Amino acid sequence: MEKILVTGGCGFIGTNFIRLLLRERDYKVTNLDALTYAGNPENIRDMEGHPCYTFIKGRIEDHDLVSGLMEGVDAVVNFAAESHVDRSIKNAGPFINTNVLGTQVLLDCFRQAGCSGPFLHVSTDEVYGSLKMEEPPFREDNLLKPNSPYSASKASADLLCRAAWKTFGTPVVITRCSNNYGPYQFPEKLIPLMIINCVEGRRLPVYGNGMNVRDWIYVEDHCKGVLAAMEKGSPGSVYNLGGNCELANIEVVETILRLLGKPRELIEFVKDRPGHDRRYAMDTSRAERKLSWSPEIDFETGMERTVRWYLDHRQWWRRILSGQYRSYYREHYGRGL
Ligand code: NAD
Ligand code: DAU
Repeated sequence: MEKILVTGGCGFIGTNFIRLLLRERDYKVTNLDALTYAGNPENIRDMEGHPCYTFIKGRIEDHDLVSGLMEGVDAVVNFAAESHVDRSIKNAGPFINTNVLGTQVLLDCFRQAGCSGPFLHVSTDEVYGSLKMEEPPFREDNLLKPNSPYSASKASADLLCRAAWKTFGTPVVITRCSNNYGPYQFPEKLIPLMIINCVEGRRLPVYGNGMNVRDWIYVEDHCKGVLAAMEKGSPGSVYNLGGNCELANIEVVETILRLLGKPRELIEFVKDRPGHDRRYAMDTSRAERKLSWSPEIDFETGMERTVRWYLDHRQWWRRILSGQYRSYYREHYGRGL
């Protein structure tokens, strides 16, 4: 494996993944990213000029563009997606275009170009649906029971990958990961939103009663899992990745308040997300066994680093908040802007 096409490399996880690749490997990396509202070229600007790195602005649904880019490529790592559940509830269209159609275009072009592989598809724990508190964590052979338009579009992509493996023998590897946090996360997601609101003295909008549970993983641990799956994964396999760190949303928010020394009174319980999944939890034993991978950063350490990163990069998020995201942010999170 020499040449890798990474899609969505200007988003949160893709940025961290490309940084890891360029730091720890000598693959030639092409980053294809449409630069949607969530894609920020600033994230990776310091990599421009790196001899192993090329950036191409474009969409994964663009067959002609993708077909040209596949020439000479060995592996693909597909991060490109519409990723925010709340947006999918408002308008599912872009989620179908990118997450479903775009994935199929990548699979077709990969096969037509005769790439050796693997085709690493980055998926999510949300495809499994929601767990009751007493149920065991998701395993790779659980049924797919997605509940939001976002997770339904991701499950569709997983099934298209499975079909490519079964029908054409395309060497597809799927990773399904739990909730990530860390540097460069777009401030619509829970953790960066709460950090920024805390810093700015704004209310912290907690959906419902704050008791929904997510399994939190530091983004670098996720990226290392994707890299391990790319290098050691078996074609046609799925690997769960997760942080083994289940927390209720309210506990996450309280951690942020503590780290920033802010009062609990900033919390505001707001209307719940429709169809809000109660709990996610991952059984990661297959990845531990087959990929020799396990998460390394505990939640306290990861959160200290993350809070420090947002404090040290105020210009990064202030530019986002004062740009095109401003009206969305104001509509959803109200006052103060
Ligand atoms: P993100 O929204 O921060 O970034 C998505 C990136 O994809 C952006 O750079 C955007 O410009 C790009 N993109 C969107 N549509 C595109 C298109 N049509 N063509 C090319 N590029 C396009 O997302 P993220 O949080 O970094 O998530 C990356 C991947 O990981 C997604 O597939 C997501 O489903 C998956 N995932 C995310 C998490 C998480 O907690 N954030 C957890 C598990 C899995
Ligand atoms: O589980 C993996 C998934 O994690 C990824 O596939 C998605 O791309 C990613 O967006 C994330 O989905 P969630 O819906 O879990 O993340 P979000 O940050 O939107 O919300 C986390 C939890 O916090 C969820 O229970 C909803 C709640 N929440 C979120 C926001 C934005 C709030 O209570 N208040 C908020 O303002």
